[in-house]
Amino acid sequence: MLRGHVRLATSTEEWEGRDGDHVTIPPQRHALAAVEDSAVLADRREPAIVGSARSESSYSQAVKLEQVRQAYASVAELYIELFGTSQQVHADDLAFIARHLAGRPGTVLDLGCGPGHITDYLRSLGVDATGVDMVPEFIAHARATHPSGRYQLGSMDDLDIPDHSVTGILAWYSLIHLPPQQFDGVLTRFRRAMAPSGTLVLGLFVGDEVDAFDHKVATAYRWPLDEVSERLTRAGFTEVERLPRLSDDTHRPHAAIAATAAEG
Ligand SMILES: C[S@@+](CC[C@H](N)C(=O)[O-])C[C@H]1O[C@@H](n2cnc3c(N)ncnc32)[C@H](O)[C@@H]1O
Repeated sequence: MLRGHVRLATSTEEWEGRDGDHVTIPPQRHALAAVEDSAVLADRREPAIVGSARSESSYSQAVKLEQVRQAYASVAELYIELFGTSQQVHADDLAFIARHLAGRPGTVLDLGCGPGHITDYLRSLGVDATGVDMVPEFIAHARATHPSGRYQLGSMDDLDIPDHSVTGILAWYSLIHLPPQQFDGVLTRFRRAMAPSGTLVLGLFVGDEVDAFDHKVATAYRWPLDEVSERLTRAGFTEVERLPRLSDDTHRPHAAIAATAAEG
């Protein structure tokens, strides 16, 4: 879809997901079109500055975050239906997450946990995992569906995480809407929260350059994996594994990347 061009809802809508990326959605699900429209209009008002060092005011950062929160809130039911169980996550992704975040004592935070299914998956592996999301509908669903789990409503930006207190952080497609100029700051905060040798796992969309695209829920960004790796290094992490997935007819290129807190 062209940027700044509002697509009218037709007989079906496609959802830009990860596995089985283009999922056909019945025609009554037109809330998505409205969400997409508002995201596009928001883009028109304030074009994304991609890869720029320009800093944003905290006000405009807050406005963008609120747009993303509202966009997910308005499609929460559908998102849960399409993506809300670990059976809907690719087996290779689950194995990657388990390989890097399970099997060690300590707390793991699933930041931007959405419906909470991956938090629950981690807990099923014996991990002391807590899910955090800023969308009340997701947290209510997670608590109702996984009553023994731990879920917290809030923005990952406002969390009061003591320094060096967590052994793992999962940000599974939850940084995809983050404007690139805020990426380094978030990685630095994650690094500060990490216990020695703690591990960060990211899921993200991949491209040849840092670039905005019209994700179904809100404007999102794709990243070259080497650039992500460099930024991780600058923030004090060392990449330990990446799992790239090339595009095909139905998938955008996407990837997982794991990094451990570098010593020092
Ligand atoms: C693409 S969804 C991914 C959800 C889940 N990790 C999954 O794999 O299904 C992005 C999620 O990140 C959450 N999110 C984005 N920015 C956030 C922030 N600053 N604090 C908390 N949650 C955030 C959104 O509310 C949304 O649930």
